Amino acid sequence: MAFLSKLFSNARKPEGFLGRMMVNGMNGGSHARMAEWGLSFVSVGEKDNVLDVGCGGGANLARLMKLAPKGRVQGIDYSPVSVSKSRKVNANAIADGRCMVQEGSADALPYADSEFDLVTAFETVYFWPDIEECFRGVHRTLKDGGSFVIVNEDDGLTDNNEKWEKMIDGMHTYTPEELRTHLSAAGFRDIGVHLDDRHHWLCVAAVK
Ligand SMILES: C[S@@+](CC[C@H](N)C(=O)[O-])C[C@H]1O[C@@H](n2cnc3c(N)ncnc32)[C@H](O)[C@@H]1O
Repeated sequence: MAFLSKLFSNARKPEGFLGRMMVNGMNGGSHARMAEWGLSFVSVGEKDNVLDVGCGGGANLARLMKLAPKGRVQGIDYSPVSVSKSRKVNANAIADGRCMVQEGSADALPYADSEFDLVTAFETVYFWPDIEECFRGVHRTLKDGGSFVIVNEDDGLTDNNEKWEKMIDGMHTYTPEELRTHLSAAGFRDIGVHLDDRHHWLCVAAVK
């Protein structure tokens, strides 16, 4: 149990050897299937300027670049292990100037106002401090009419959330209604909720 807890705390912030194992795992398996599912609800323009917050191992940066082939995709993560893996996975696009990955936190986004057409957050908002403040920061960086899309592997509607919250220190699993409330308080409108009943995945999309 202690080992599992140590391993899974790397989902919150990948560090060291176990963290490197974790980011490798995040780039495949159920994360990949869930990311594809979540992205099916997003309309991405080919020239869009996109930010992925909590980009982990960078697989979603690569996916987003396919959807915005003439745009620019940036990733940010507060874990140096995640940043390093994301940079490795997207090395060619970074060399071409189409992708940029930087270390930083969701509660202090180092981007200009109204910079992005789309901001995504896959499997990460559970760990953000002061979620409403973070959502306000995302709102600030979006253009008017831009979208914020959250994709979570746990929809917060089953007993599963207790298991994960016990296992991973500092994790909070949100229900769709909780996210709707926080997004609305941060200034978002047109908040849409998509649920996958089989896996209990959750996708919430909101507009600035
Ligand atoms: C479970 S992983 C998901 C990674 C990736 N988005 C994916 O779906 O494969 C969570 C990631 O969010 C990052 N993260 C958690 N809290 C963060 C914060 N406050 N600011 C930036 N990154 C954060 C972690 O370092 C980790 O890389």
